[in-house]
Amino acid sequence: MPHVISVVQSKGGTGKTTVTMFLATAMQKKGYKVAVLDSDPQQSAMRWSSASEEPLPFPTLPAPSPSELSEGLHRAKKADFVLIDTPPGNEKIIDAAVSAASLVLVPTGVSPMEMDRTQITLDALAKTTTPVAVVLTNVDRREKLADTVHAELVGDETMALADVVIPTRATTRKAFGTVPDLNEPWKALATELCSAFED
Ligand SMILES: Nc1ncnc2c1ncn2[C@@H]1O[C@H](COP(=O)(O)OP(=O)(O)O)[C@@H](O)[C@H]1O
Ligand SMILES: [Mg+2]
Repeated sequence: MPHVISVVQSKGGTGKTTVTMFLATAMQKKGYKVAVLDSDPQQSAMRWSSASEEPLPFPTLPAPSPSELSEGLHRAKKADFVLIDTPPGNEKIIDAAVSAASLVLVPTGVSPMEMDRTQITLDALAKTTTPVAVVLTNVDRREKLADTVHAELVGDETMALADVVIPTRATTRKAFGTVPDLNEPWKALATELCSAFED
């Protein structure tokens, strides 16, 4: 059975789709068989994949409803890792993605508004027994805020905090419709997550 990582955050625009597509690429490059299921009705991951001239190194399947999600999971059963991209908000499909997950990954920036939504997301996830990890994304490392937020979150026992922080990069922002060009932090995040499943 694949390890299923659901990328969840109630706020839009926090980097869910970007994290999904970059991590999928980085895991595939590490030699794993990967599939992406797109549970966002806006189908951004699907559109990313079909817009790419060069085929992405993993399949992306549409899964915008709970029944399509379970069908997608069945089709991807031979993968090592399945990444599920989800919509923002409180839709039923998010519950289905969380139920299917071995790990819920919550990407967030470090602004006060994003941290507020992250707390709401974590509170909503508190009822699940699935492990939750937060990853700081789209972070300007010159900003002191990133260190402050990182230090605050480290003490939170309801979830794990990824050591790796994903910085803001123009190449990452422009990656839609292309095979992601991985920089070191993406590779390091894939290594950190993959090794979490090894023990
Ligand atoms: N590390 C990053 N560096 C630069 N831009 C980023 C980064 N992560 C996300 N973005 C940009 O932020 C916007 C929102 O990201 P997206 O992945 O679509 O979020 P979500 O899926 O949560 O709505 C997009 O324009 C994306 O290109
Ligand atoms: Mg998205």
